[in-house]
Amino acid sequence: MAPTSSTLAAPLQPDIEYHPNEEKWRVRTARRLAEDPLLPTTPLPRGFPQKLESPLVWKGSDWMDESQWVYELNESQLKEIDDAVKYFNALNQPLGYVSPTTFPLPTLSPILSELSKELHTGRGFFVLRTIPVSSYSKKDAILIYTGLSSHVGSLRGVQDHNNAIISHIKDLRNSHPEKTIGSPAYTTDKQVYHTDIGDIIALFAFETAHEGGTSRISSSWQVYNDLAASRPDLIQTLAEPWPLDGLGGTPAYSMRPLLFYEDSKIIIQYVRRLFTGFHGISRSTNIPPITEAQAEALDAIHFYAEKVALGLNFQKGDIQFINNLSIFHGRDAFVDTPEKTRHLLRLWLRNEELAWKIPTELQPTWDRVFYKTSLVEQQFPVEPEMLLMKGAKYA
Ligand SMILES: [Fe+2]
Repeated sequence: MAPTSSTLAAPLQPDIEYHPNEEKWRVRTARRLAEDPLLPTTPLPRGFPQKLESPLVWKGSDWMDESQWVYELNESQLKEIDDAVKYFNALNQPLGYVSPTTFPLPTLSPILSELSKELHTGRGFFVLRTIPVSSYSKKDAILIYTGLSSHVGSLRGVQDHNNAIISHIKDLRNSHPEKTIGSPAYTTDKQVYHTDIGDIIALFAFETAHEGGTSRISSSWQVYNDLAASRPDLIQTLAEPWPLDGLGGTPAYSMRPLLFYEDSKIIIQYVRRLFTGFHGISRSTNIPPITEAQAEALDAIHFYAEKVALGLNFQKGDIQFINNLSIFHGRDAFVDTPEKTRHLLRLWLRNEELAWKIPTELQPTWDRVFYKTSLVEQQFPVEPEMLLMKGAKYA
């Protein structure tokens, strides 16, 4: 008998949470493979490569020593930075006007340009060490961070509906109701592997945690190769449209793939919490659930990324730059004390000369983040705030 509307059950959200559960992942994988043993013979999406060959493909175990990715600033470079602070402050301009011209770094600028090339065509990450944070006011520390970053990528992305350019990554549960917090950025929780928005992410350590909070990165190009070799069906799943939660905004959800192959480059853009909810904000119930295949793919990304990740020894005064299109990032849970309260600042950057071609489906986001706000409108909140994206009700 053909099913009628009364016998057809609406699809349910799979049993999956923000924090990945390895046992649930293995059980789901075994069940799906038992139901369809031919899944691993699924062809890759048309045109997608069997294997990426690039310095962007790496495993954490490939790196022996942090001197391979940490660039230590010397005394004369720190003096150059200090001179640039004085130069910019004498101009009496809003911070939105910080640029390689208004924050001049005669000898450091060519080095930062080379490091930016490393982000786009090399290993995809580096760390600058050490900005003497405690020697500056918060505003000048933000100026240094913004100024140095402008030599890596001169376009800065807006991170909320009020044109905030800086976001503060800090546990804000003391000042904000738990029910309003939907992002681990504002808690002490572990953050699973994910990407942000934009070409480059810069993170500046104002202060590190009393314990834990290790920053971890993982090459999504390596994860792509591993998945393409073992589970090409999950590559197919990732390249199909997914329902992204609009977090109480309008529209309630949007559809797009998480994985793209554009201009001979694999690009992944995804945040797990938009498919699982997080903390005080559950996944919206008035939007389509994800599928079992998508749930498996989410866990596979996380656990494959975890296996090849690199933990960074992120110190107070460090700035970490990563290629957000080819590297996942995450962090361990942490414990703060009044003396050691983890506090990072984040910028989203784009270097137009070196930038990759952005897939059509992501272009509206890039337009909104990088091309709609004038320099004078850019805001640089000095104190931590919870940022809301345009249209969203929750962070
Ligand atoms: Fe992030």
